[in-house]
Amino acid sequence: MADSPLSAALEFARMLAAGGFRLDPLDSAPSIEDIRRLARRRLPTMAFDILDGASNHELTAGENVADLREVRFRPRWLTDISTIDVSTAVDGQELERPYVLGPLGLQRMIGGEGELGAVRAAGRANIPFTLSTASNWTMEELAEQATGPLWYQLYMYKSERIVSNLIQRAKGIGAEVLVVTVDVPLNGKRYRDHRNGMSIPPRITPANAVQAVRHLNWTRAIMRPPTIGFRNLKDEVQGDNAVSHQEFVAKYLANLTLTWESIEDVRRQWDGPLYLKGILTPEDAQRARRVGADGIYVSNHGGRQLDSSPSTIRALPSIVDAVGEDMTVVFDGGVRTGDDIAKAIAVGADLVSIGRAWGYGNAAAGEKGVLRVLDILDGELSLAMGQLGATSVPALDRSFVEYPEAWHGAGMHREPEPAEAVEAPGELTP
Ligand SMILES: Cc1cc2nc3c(=O)[nH]c(=O)nc-3n(C[C@H](O)[C@H](O)[C@H](O)COP(=O)(O)O)c2cc1C
Repeated sequence: MADSPLSAALEFARMLAAGGFRLDPLDSAPSIEDIRRLARRRLPTMAFDILDGASNHELTAGENVADLREVRFRPRWLTDISTIDVSTAVDGQELERPYVLGPLGLQRMIGGEGELGAVRAAGRANIPFTLSTASNWTMEELAEQATGPLWYQLYMYKSERIVSNLIQRAKGIGAEVLVVTVDVPLNGKRYRDHRNGMSIPPRITPANAVQAVRHLNWTRAIMRPPTIGFRNLKDEVQGDNAVSHQEFVAKYLANLTLTWESIEDVRRQWDGPLYLKGILTPEDAQRARRVGADGIYVSNHGGRQLDSSPSTIRALPSIVDAVGEDMTVVFDGGVRTGDDIAKAIAVGADLVSIGRAWGYGNAAAGEKGVLRVLDILDGELSLAMGQLGATSVPALDRSFVEYPEAWHGAGMHREPEPAEAVEAPGELTP
């Protein structure tokens, strides 16, 4: 009997049950890279590329990730690590973790509920969620779903009236921090989006029809009302005609006369913490301080704007050296592991902003996917801190990392070396 097919089948079922049924691929995804793969499987290329892609040859986007991997840890063993405290405080805000969910617009383009699930996940995890001006739901619609802290990311549109109106609405929903993105006076050229004929709202064309049919869940989600668009501006943008992203930006967003004075105007309208997102040089960081910003995001927009900008981890040391304790420094770009969070903080950031990582979670499984991403990052961060022997966020300093010395000069302006004085031809002395 022991060897009968029936008993073998029963034994197999018993072992399977003991091993735990894991039907949900999210549960067995150990890393953000695995979540990214799930997202890729779930989306048509056009939608995955909106999230994953960057500008031109994607040099900067690639280096954001690769340079973080250049940073090496210096563990200090035999430290009591029985308590690891990942909480922190910036500008009067007590945070459970040293990171926040950064602004990612266009979330309905990746299907599902767009930003709605992500904002719910952030609330459940009590992590600040940064609402993007380019969200596909209005900030009020998102705030209704929020149970955690909200930050608001502002694009400085052409019209001062629109900008002031957005700031007032951000106050109205109780946003705690205003993040002004300064690196989009012009929209970066994203080859993948051009090749895919990306438009807002998305269009089903002969080129992408097969993909749309193969990803029916996505197709159904993007067809659901309301029509996908920049809903925060729904009273400003007329009609629902498909308009290419580039056209939209050129018409409504591109503000070619934006200067530091414009930031002073915003400062006058916002009493809470004000951070400028997109800073890559020590000079701009110091200038941000002078116009009244409380903080900066060391950011290159995830490599989606000016390609060949420095990676953000490379730009970080000299910016931290320039602004010292004087400003909140948020690190943004290429973060895919909890180790990356620990590295950026050790190099000198006060806080880290998560970009595509949560977008992959949202694309893979909406609210549940974002929660899984947070779970992975939390676990990896605590593990890294424990293995380093750094038991609190303030304890994570430069003594825990090594990175190329040259990064301290990254982003610094260098005057050309003065030409060596050429000696006038004279008489040769013996
Ligand atoms: C799909 C997508 C949409 C984004 N939308 C915005 C936005 O609306 N406002 C903004 O300031 N940054 C936006 N960003 C940039 C992110 O906030 C962040 O700077 C970038 O994603 C960081 O790089 P990472 O994704 O490699 O972490 C977007 C990025 C992506 C990938």
